[in-house]
Amino acid sequence: MAGTELFGPEERKEVMDVLETGILFRYGFDQDRNGHWKAREFEAEIAGFTGAKHCLACSNGSAAVSIMLAAAGVGAGDEVVVPPFTFIATIEAVLWTGAIPVFAEIDDTLNLSPEGIEAVITEKTKAVCLVHMCGSMARMDEIIAICNRHNIILLEDTAQALGAFYKGRHLGLFGAAGSFSFDFFKIITAGEGGAVITNDKDIAERMPLISDHGHDHIGDNRGAEHHPILGFNFRMGELNAAVGLAQARKLPRILQAQKVNKKRIKSAIARFAPVTFRHLPDPDGDAATFINFFLPDHRTTVKVVEEFNNADVFGLQYWYDNNYHYIKNWHHLKDFSVAAKLPVQIIDPDRNYRDVQLPKSDDLLSRLISMIIKVSWTEDQLTDHIDKVTGALDRVLG
Ligand SMILES: Cc1ncc(COP(=O)(O)O)c(C=O)c1O
Repeated sequence: MAGTELFGPEERKEVMDVLETGILFRYGFDQDRNGHWKAREFEAEIAGFTGAKHCLACSNGSAAVSIMLAAAGVGAGDEVVVPPFTFIATIEAVLWTGAIPVFAEIDDTLNLSPEGIEAVITEKTKAVCLVHMCGSMARMDEIIAICNRHNIILLEDTAQALGAFYKGRHLGLFGAAGSFSFDFFKIITAGEGGAVITNDKDIAERMPLISDHGHDHIGDNRGAEHHPILGFNFRMGELNAAVGLAQARKLPRILQAQKVNKKRIKSAIARFAPVTFRHLPDPDGDAATFINFFLPDHRTTVKVVEEFNNADVFGLQYWYDNNYHYIKNWHHLKDFSVAAKLPVQIIDPDRNYRDVQLPKSDDLLSRLISMIIKVSWTEDQLTDHIDKVTGALDRVLG
């Protein structure tokens, strides 16, 4: 939630630019908009920061995953390998595309493991959708090699990893495309917003059509534009883009603060011998939005969570028990009677998500504790946070 901590005059100025012209739509009205193209500027900012050749801003991160899948050619009946630890939007986007999510195991990177992916590949596997959870990367080299060997499209849901790099390259640029979310809870926010980045020219050409009813955006008369394909409305509006633009310019400062604060917390926790940290294949590339660590067993983890709650530790996440980031509690996915109430039947009735067995992921998640890293902590507040965390760990681990 770093971005929301830093709202200020910069966001207000960008929003006022838009309100003063009254042009809230991202396309056209060239004469009336006083030179303000916030969505375009936001796209340029994200492309510049990540090093992507192309960027399309859109309405939210869920839409971004949908655009990415469709633009990469994933469609009805295709299998897409997905992790059980993600926000359910990744899975929903695969389903709405008409494709079939196939769950694979994660490892101690908290992301899909190469072994897990390899174990579920079939002749129907069209894509792997990595989700770089909590600001850091999967074991990229091995996963890229698997996708190449099996001729599978690699996609990256990078909603939680803006600012994360692997060996100097931004996440989201290792496969066909990468998607971002700028909802209220992300490292930077547009209120609601998303984006897709790619270095692939064909994908880049398809994305704006998919996100705007197939409009080809050629010429200066929207009513006369052609529609080579059917699309949908996933457009970003100028007001959201204005907020996102001001926030994107704060990204280097946010990353710097997160890294400094995380380092302090990590070194304080590291003195507790039973604690192990999430594996970071490239520690320098971690966006440091969260600190993630494992306890030796489920029982001890539950005790630590309880102590953290009693101590009112800021930003605590025990994903294993919450109902929106881990498959264990996705009853709306597992229960076909609920799924059948959707306007379209999107779940293959022959596929029973109740029976998905992921013992490695289950073990890891049951022992995982995550905490959000704040950027606006004062020295006193950070010290207080560390005292609460270490005090609680002391009480459980001795
Ligand atoms: C991994 C992941 N993918 C997709 C999304 C969806 O983003 P949005 O909330 O902008 O639709 C989120 C949001 O939390 C997410 O964490």
